[in-house]
Formats: sequence, structure tokens, C-alpha cells
Amino acid sequence: MRIIETIAEMRKLRRESRRISLVPTMGFLHQGHQRLIAAAANRGGLTVVSIFVNPLQFGPDEDYDRYPRDLARDLVTARSAGADVVFAPAVSEMYPAGVSTTRIELGPITQVLCGRTRPIHFSGVATVVAKLFHIVGPSFAFFGAKDAQQVAVIRRMVRDLNFDVGVVRVPTVREANGLACSSRNRYLTDEERERAGTLFRALTAAERLYAEGERRQAALIDAVLTMVESAAITPEYVEIRSWDCLDPVGATLDERPVLLALAARIGRARLIDNVLLGTDLAE
Ligand code: PAJ
Repeated sequence: MRIIETIAEMRKLRRESRRISLVPTMGFLHQGHQRLIAAAANRGGLTVVSIFVNPLQFGPDEDYDRYPRDLARDLVTARSAGADVVFAPAVSEMYPAGVSTTRIELGPITQVLCGRTRPIHFSGVATVVAKLFHIVGPSFAFFGAKDAQQVAVIRRMVRDLNFDVGVVRVPTVREANGLACSSRNRYLTDEERERAGTLFRALTAAERLYAEGERRQAALIDAVLTMVESAAITPEYVEIRSWDCLDPVGATLDERPVLLALAARIGRARLIDNVLLGTDLAE
């Protein structure tokens, strides 16, 4: 497996390669990332994993400085999952000091759900992903369903700006108690980690109600809230929106599929999760 740290070297390899699959990550790789890398490797061609903790997507009070990093371990994980190349540029390589003020703004889709408490986050994500698409030149890029809004934002950007990249959505990988794997789970104590399993249990309870025919939006959201709050978790939001544009949906869910998404702070971690209702796309 090759390790590349400069844009120039990445571009050179790109010109020599026929087809590239890209898995953008911020490192501290876990089983969710491994699933993405394996899916990319399955497509054939060259599998490139980018590892870059992107300062642009962190708010001033967020965890950029303490975000977990372990490149040596990540290289072993990436290789065993099937990566051919790890692209791990320094911050100064991606954002040379004093320049690099261009930002990608997508509008309302970035201001709902997580965007309400993280107003600059998705502009930072879109900007770095656009840069990675230009540098790496992938035919396909792989993103996790856990970050449903991120997938919606990237798909919108690809369509609006005519990137010739297929965006592949990979199902969420979970720990034994249902908690979605996340680099931020390491902020949790054992007790918090156990309690955090309630988030997915609550989403699956709503999924069951939906399968039994419940279509009232308020009843489905209430079911989630009741379970989450009974575990002493105060969610930041629990919402149902259209899965592709993240638009509000009616009091009665007559379109399908729809996205049921939540965010909650547990201890020092901010966790998100979601399911799709009304489709076998849902995990
Ligand atoms: P990061 O949080 O490292 O996640 C990298 C990719 O792994 C994302 O597409 C994310 O959705 C996916 N992922 C995370 N946890 C997952 C899980 N439990 N199951 C399946 N996939 C999972 O998301 C980012 O980095 C950044 O915003 C990035 C896109 C790299 C831009 O900086």
C-alpha cells in the first residue's frame, strides 16, 4: 500500500490510473470506515483512502484539537480493509496559509438538522470533498449512511456542480448494542456507551411502528423521544424529513422513503444516527 502526502504526487498517480474509488475519512479508522473501504475495493480499480482531519468543518467550540488521531494504526487498518493508497496530506498542503478562502455553500440543505447547531460544518465538508474530488479524480466515492445529511449534501453538490463522480451510500456499521460506530465513541465512558445503545433501539422501535402501519409523524417521533428520554438522554433533535432533499414532510407520511434522524449529546460526545422508513434501503 502506498502512502501519499502531497497533492502533486496524488495527481501524478491519478493520471497514471484508469479508474479510482475514493473513501474520504478523517482517520481513527473503525469498522464503519473498513466497510466503506471494502465496498470501494470491491468495485475494482485503485482504492484511495484519504485521511485528513479537516479544520474547515469544525466550529470554534468543537473538538478539532482533541479529535482522535492515530495514523500508524490507520495505515494497518486501511491496508487490511483493501486500500491501495492512503492520501494523508498535512493541513498546510490542503490549505496553504494566507490563501484558500473559497468555500462551497449549498444553502438550506446545510442549515437544517445538524446544520442548526453546526452552521459552518457542511460548507467545510463540501469544500474539502470538492478539493479531494479534484485532487484524486475518483469515478466513485463512498460515504456512510450514518451521516445521512452529509450524503445528501455531497449528492447535491455533485449534481449542482456537475462532478463526474458516483456517490455510493454504504450501510451503517454498529457495535453489538446497536450504537453506530464512530471515532467519537472513544469520548464515552463504558456506562455512556451502554446508554448510547438506546438511540438505535429507539429508532428501531419507530421502524417497527411504521412497519405496523403507523404513519402519523408526531406518533413516530414521540415513540423515539419517549425511549431516548427514559435513558436520561436529551436529544438535540429527532426529525423526519425527505431522505434526499431533507425537506419537511407532512403530518401524515404519505411519501416514502423518509429519513428519521436524531442527534444527542452523551457525556463529551455528540452522536448522530438515522434510519430510512419505508424502504428496504434502510439497514
Ligand atoms: P469520518 O467521520 O471519518 O467518516 C468517514 C466516512 O465514514 C463517512 O462517509 C462516514 O459517513 C463513514 N462512517 C462513519 N461511521 C460509520 C459507520 N458506523 N458505518 C458506516 N459508515 C460510517 O465524515 C467524515 O469523516 C468527514 O466529514 C469527511 C467526509 C471525510 C470530510 O472531511
